[in-house]
Amino acid sequence: NLTEEKQLLAMDEEKQPTGGLHFVGKKDELIKAKRCVRPVEDRDVLIIHARGRFFALDSHCYHAGGELLNGDIEEINGRLCMVCPRHKYKICVADGEGLYTATDTNENPPVKKWYSYGVKQRTHLVKEINGDVFVKLSRYPGWLESDFYQGERGKVERVKAAEAAKKKSSKS
Ligand code: FES
Repeated sequence: NLTEEKQLLAMDEEKQPTGGLHFVGKKDELIKAKRCVRPVEDRDVLIIHARGRFFALDSHCYHAGGELLNGDIEEINGRLCMVCPRHKYKICVADGEGLYTATDTNENPPVKKWYSYGVKQRTHLVKEINGDVFVKLSRYPGWLESDFYQGERGKVERVKAAEAAKKKSSKS
């Protein structure tokens, strides 16, 4: 009956009081930190505060698992992009699009232009409610390349890549 249904719904809501939103920190603290990584369900999510707003994306680069936490942020064609510290790939923080430059030889003289690889990095919804910040994971649209580095095998690869990078930097 209806009451029972409502009770079940209420119980469900109790388990997930924020409707899929996960608390990731206080707004003030996250703004001060500018960027941080938080575990959300099965993923590590990088939360960035830049240009007055929050962004959330998978913490490791879609290309080879580089740690985006330490990347620079650049504006490319009016879009904020994370520059992966490993091989300098550019990723739009708002939608996860991978950007690259190439020379357009149709122009005379040829000019360098920005092009898109398409969406490669998974981005997530960030919401602020009364000074608290929440992330809701995006599962859309199916498989994205950054998903690999959030799975079991990819997490092992991440550790290997970080160790290799450490060795390389201690040699130089
Ligand atoms: S791992 Fe990010 S650019 Fe290669």
